[in-house]
Amino acid sequence: MARPARIDDAIDAIEVVRQSILSLCVADHHNDRATVDRWLANKHPETFVTWINDPENFCVVDEITGKVRGVGLVRRNGTVLLFYVAPGYQRKGVGRRIHGALEAHAVGWGLQRLYLESTAEARRFYESMGYMVDGPGKRLFGMLMAYPYSKLLQPGSQIL
Ligand SMILES: CC(C)(COP(=O)(O)OP(=O)(O)OC[C@H]1O[C@@H](n2cnc3c(N)ncnc32)[C@H](O)[C@@H]1OP(=O)(O)O)[C@@H](O)C(=O)NCCC(=O)NCCS
Repeated sequence: MARPARIDDAIDAIEVVRQSILSLCVADHHNDRATVDRWLANKHPETFVTWINDPENFCVVDEITGKVRGVGLVRRNGTVLLFYVAPGYQRKGVGRRIHGALEAHAVGWGLQRLYLESTAEARRFYESMGYMVDGPGKRLFGMLMAYPYSKLLQPGSQIL
């Protein structure tokens, strides 16, 4: 079930983010220590609290069996800044539910398009969600390649 994130989700949500980066994004960081350290540098519960307290952000978590298994965040300027599923919970619809909630909220904000930079790992997910390549890949945090995508939003979803 996807729902808006709360401050008391911070520890669990950040653990999902960190484990997802460490375990599911090896094809992106290649286990390069400097890249991983830069990627994880701001992934702490205290930072998460500042993100969800920012009225320019909307953050969603998805729970399975009562535990947070995925987290996503969109900014009012139309950029998706955070999107991770816990290791062992891929291909169970967590990503689709979170992204659906972010899109619905963005439509409620009056946005017409969403923008993001994908990992190599997530490209096929975003393409299945209707995202189109929006420029050349660029290097991030060292080894990581970030692939720009955007998607034209369809009005009509319910705001979460
Ligand atoms: C990318 C990610 C968020 C996808 O989340 P997910 O919960 O596994 O995705 P879903 O189960 O909702 O998948 C929805 C659809 O996307 C597509 N899809 C998802 N992962 C895919 C993959 N690895 N290969 C091909 N298609 C994929 C499929 O069409 C899938 O539908 P189906 O399972 O019915 O065939 C997740 O794999 C993840 O956290 N990866 C590591 C972190 C990461 O790279 N985050 C992105 C940062 S930009």
